[in-house]
This record gives sequence, structure tokens and C-alpha cells, in this order.
Amino acid sequence: MSAPVTPTLLYLDNITVSFDGFRALNALSLAIDHAEMRAIIGPNGAGKTTMMDVITGKSRPTQGAALFEGLHDLTALDEAAIAELGIGRKFQTPTVFEMHSVEDNLLLSVKNKRDPFSALFSRRTSSERERIDALLERVRLSSQRYRKAGELSHGQKQWLEIGMLLAQEPKLLLIDEPAAGMTDQETADTADLLREIAKTKAVVVVEHDMSFVRDLGVKVTCLHEGSVLAEGSLDAVSSNERVIEVYLGR
Ligand SMILES: Nc1ncnc2c1ncn2[C@@H]1O[C@H](COP(=O)(O)OP(=O)(O)O)[C@@H](O)[C@H]1O
Ligand SMILES: [Mg+2]
Repeated sequence: MSAPVTPTLLYLDNITVSFDGFRALNALSLAIDHAEMRAIIGPNGAGKTTMMDVITGKSRPTQGAALFEGLHDLTALDEAAIAELGIGRKFQTPTVFEMHSVEDNLLLSVKNKRDPFSALFSRRTSSERERIDALLERVRLSSQRYRKAGELSHGQKQWLEIGMLLAQEPKLLLIDEPAAGMTDQETADTADLLREIAKTKAVVVVEHDMSFVRDLGVKVTCLHEGSVLAEGSLDAVSSNERVIEVYLGR
């Protein structure tokens, strides 16, 4: 039998992840389209981070498949191979190189990913410079180009890290709680930034801040006990009785 043809970029099919018999993900199925942004909400322990772990190869499901572009089963690949396919992940805590300038942080990501030393010390080409100009512009850090990353605000560090992910030209970005610790203005700017990115790339964003999710204006999936509890517009999901019960803890 030939492989099923799917029009979706990412298709999680019936994924279960067990920790000593406890199901962090329980027959989870979810589809993300090309250049779709999806917000994932759900109470603590719902399985949001575990879902990202499965997509990036950090956790192995005991059941199910995770098809990327309809042909690669991510559950059979290691983390490096999955990154190579074009899946980038941003964790909650920024992991920029604090002692290096904003520009050099981007350069490190634009240049050969496997050789950071020569990336920093070899001459940059004009095409690399143009790439970096565009990335700085995109993540709103043009005026911070020569500052040490360690001197940026929390929000700016998050944007820099998003820029470093974009430098790798991913097809799918996974972002865990970008608005946590941000000011209201930074949160609003981050929603704008993600909306721009999602014009050309798929973005899956886990977030607790509902005003941020509202600003994103995209389809929302609510996870609970490792499965999809509700999916649709934020208004539809947040007025769903089961969702309300879960959030109120009844
Ligand atoms: N490595 C692990 N070992 C045991 N239990 C885990 C592990 N990782 C996650 N869990 C459990 O799986 C459930 C889902 O966790 P997680 O995916 O982090 O939820 P969320 O990100 O939605 O808060 C939680 O009950 C958590 O305690
Ligand atoms: Mg989590």
C-alpha cells in the first residue's frame, strides 16, 4: 500500500506518550496546514509541552505517527534530523549568546550551523549581511544591532531568539509561551511579529495569555489530559462548556 497523501504540513495521528503508565498524551490527533498559525491552550499538565517534545523528537510516543509534509514520520527521526527538515523550536527561556552582539547572534545562525567558531571569525559576505539586515528589521532589532544580547530587555531577547530561528529558514516554528514575562507593549508587538511570520511559515504557539491569543486571531486548540478538548475560534473554544469546566477545575 502506498503512503497516504495528506495536504497538511504536520499531522499528528493518534499519538500517545506514556510515563510509567500515565498518559501525558492520549491518542492526540491534530493537523497544521502550510503557513497556518495555531494557538494551543489548555490547563497545566494538559500535554502542551509534551506535544512539542514529540514533534521535535525529544519524546517518543508509544503509539501513533507524526507526519511532516505527508512523508516524514517524525517519530522515527532524531532531533537533529527533525531540525534539518525545517522544524525550529523556541523554548520559554531565551538562549541567546549574551556576550555577543545582536548581529553576531544572528550571524551565528545564518552561517553554517555546524561551525559556530568559523561563523564568528570568518569574513561575512554581502548576501549574509543582507540576510541579517532583513532579520533585524523583521524582529524589530535594527537599532540594537551592535548591543550585547545580554543587555536587551526580556522581550527583545525573545525576539532575537525568534530571529535566530528564522535564520535557519524553518517551515514550522514551535513557540512555547512567548508572552510570559513581557510588558503589554512587547506582548502586542510579539503578536504582530508572529502574524507576519505566519504569512509564510507555519507557527504553533502555546500560550496562557488570552489577550495575546485574541491578538493572534487564529484557530485555537484546547488540550486537556493529553487530547483535544475543543478546537475553533477563540470565542467558540472559550464559550465551550467542557473548556470552561476544565479551566474552573470542576
Ligand atoms: N518526563 C516526564 N516524566 C513523567 N511525567 C511527565 C514527564 N513530562 C511530562 N510529564 C507529565 O505529563 C503531563 C503533561 O505535561 P506537559 O506536557 O508538561 O503539560 P503542559 O505543558 O500542558 O503543562 C503532566 O502531568 C506532567 O507531569
Ligand atoms: Mg508546558
